Amino acid sequence: MRIDKLLANSGFGSRKDVKKLLKNRQVIVNGVTVKDASLHVDEMKDMIFVGDQQVQYEEFIYLLMNKPAGVISATEDRVHETVLDLLSEADFSREPFPVGRLDIDTEGLLILTNDGKFAHEVLAPKKHVDKTYYAKIDGIVTEADILAFSEGVVLKGNASKGEADYVAKPAGLTVLSTNIVEETSEIEVTITEGKFHQVKRMFESVGKTVIYLKRIQMGCLVLDPELPLGAYRSLTEAEVALVLKRD
Ligand code: URA
Repeated sequence: MRIDKLLANSGFGSRKDVKKLLKNRQVIVNGVTVKDASLHVDEMKDMIFVGDQQVQYEEFIYLLMNKPAGVISATEDRVHETVLDLLSEADFSREPFPVGRLDIDTEGLLILTNDGKFAHEVLAPKKHVDKTYYAKIDGIVTEADILAFSEGVVLKGNASKGEADYVAKPAGLTVLSTNIVEETSEIEVTITEGKFHQVKRMFESVGKTVIYLKRIQMGCLVLDPELPLGAYRSLTEAEVALVLKRD
């Protein structure tokens, strides 16, 4: 890999910033000062220093984002801003992609990575990675709804597209509070699959509407409460492992 790409990928700023480091003779490869940005290095074998800091190359990045409403969880879109537009140049250049999707109006926990194998494992239906959402519902969520969710509600297929109805896997529904005057409820729901608009369609099936939706947990990884909407941070190795862990 080119030395400028490796350093930009390792958090030493943009390629332009890295050029400056090279020009200022701060980059040393195997004991030799390097000024050529196009020099190819072996990131696994070569001893690379910037000043007195040894460069530890990490093959993959794992980011935890608190997705805001209004942005699309895709890598490109002609109309809307995407979650990739919220990344720094250095992180964007690592070519991450969102692990699964949240609707444009859904907020909360979104993982971005360039590790295809990890993403595949998280999304594989067989792995049953639990996803927990907090939602505000138009209507009073009842014991009957909790029972229906625990047995598996029927998600209506779009008949005009030839889609069949689908029985959702059992889901855990907890009522956090109800407001009798407003006729709204705050709930948490845990699902093990990721069908299109799944939570919204599950509530539709019991005659209710989701007004606000936020993902708060994936596997055993909980959304960082310190992370403002639209912000993101790297996950530690231990946190990455939590995604695939079960309670
Ligand atoms: N279920 C939905 O309906 N929307 C989301 O964004 C995620 C789960």
